[in-house]
Amino acid sequence: MAVTERELLRPRTKVDLTTTKPGTPGGIFMRQFWHAIARSEDVAPGHAIPVRIMSEDYALYRGASGRVQLVAQRCPHRGALMHLGWVENDDIRCVYHGWKYDCSGQCIEAPAEKEGFAKNVSIATFPTGEAFGLIYGYFGPDEPPAFPPYPESQGEGYIEGWPVEHVPCNYLQSFENSMDEVHVAFTHSPGGSHAALSHDLPIITAEETPWGMLRHGKRASGMVRETLHIAPNIVRVIVPPLYGMDGVGGWPEITFHFTPVDDDNHLWIVTAKVQVTGDEVVRYKEKRAEFYAARAAAPRIQSVVDDIWAGKVAFDTVRHPELAIVQDIAVQAGQGRIQDRSTETLGRSDAGLALWRRILERELQIIADGGTPKKWQRTPDDVVPIVGIPGKH
Ligand code: FES
Ligand SMILES: [Fe+2]
Repeated sequence: MAVTERELLRPRTKVDLTTTKPGTPGGIFMRQFWHAIARSEDVAPGHAIPVRIMSEDYALYRGASGRVQLVAQRCPHRGALMHLGWVENDDIRCVYHGWKYDCSGQCIEAPAEKEGFAKNVSIATFPTGEAFGLIYGYFGPDEPPAFPPYPESQGEGYIEGWPVEHVPCNYLQSFENSMDEVHVAFTHSPGGSHAALSHDLPIITAEETPWGMLRHGKRASGMVRETLHIAPNIVRVIVPPLYGMDGVGGWPEITFHFTPVDDDNHLWIVTAKVQVTGDEVVRYKEKRAEFYAARAAAPRIQSVVDDIWAGKVAFDTVRHPELAIVQDIAVQAGQGRIQDRSTETLGRSDAGLALWRRILERELQIIADGGTPKKWQRTPDDVVPIVGIPGKH
């Protein structure tokens, strides 16, 4: 159902839509879902890394069997950081006094203590899963929902995980931006890859679904783009051929996860399914290797954004291998760490994000009132993002 202009002007509820801190309505809402937390390839067997998700800290490691394990940040003995630990098979041993925990979190060795001591000690563990080249974690009190959290897109192709991007603003800004197709014609007009979507402006409509929100962007040219916004922070969208790829890979399907680090920061954890098979995969990977070499040689994305914010570089003249990401972060994080939505002026082109806010407000208010929130379902296999002109191929 489309949001009417009258609804856009309706006064807001008092629940904080942006926070995901534990114990808040937003935090309780978000902890109903799996969250992408890292790329699989960034956590090698035998290694542990720190992760911060929704204002809470954890240690993530991969054991010798390949299994990923998520445990509390600190050792229950005297609070040492667990990601400094030694990974031994699928267990982890704290570097401070050598206490060792198995993958259920049970302490199985406390070398300086009496026999039998370890069995009374355990570290908190959290469910994990791996799919699409990503590691997901579940942080809620209940049983986790079905995994993976959405079906793999059908059809042949190659799935690539992009380097994880740290974005210095609240996750909801980027999720809202993903519902704002009009920005593409402006924010991404200086160079970059989105020229194919810049020739006319779409009329945006959106509808709530059992799994999130389906958004339609319809252009005067007849081009229709349907984008999936999967609750609470995932977007599946078809985008134009990637910058610097000379069309290799076609129009990929991109899945964005906007994972909150805390209320002021979030991660972009992104996979792209490109339309290449067989030998084309090799050619695609070669082209991507050139792209990644250029990316590695270029200034850091955030330093370019900082220069834009400081007025040292004009937004319009910036060039960078990740130009679209530079542009998006400059705009979205430039709204402030947590955008002050009380001073904004919404229009009809904001219909997608306005509807999502209504949904979020409703759910958070139900949680705040102690009611029963919506039971979200997994996206059906045949609900996929599309772009094109109906009737034409
Ligand atoms: S703090 Fe971890 S073993 Fe002592
Ligand atoms: Fe963008």
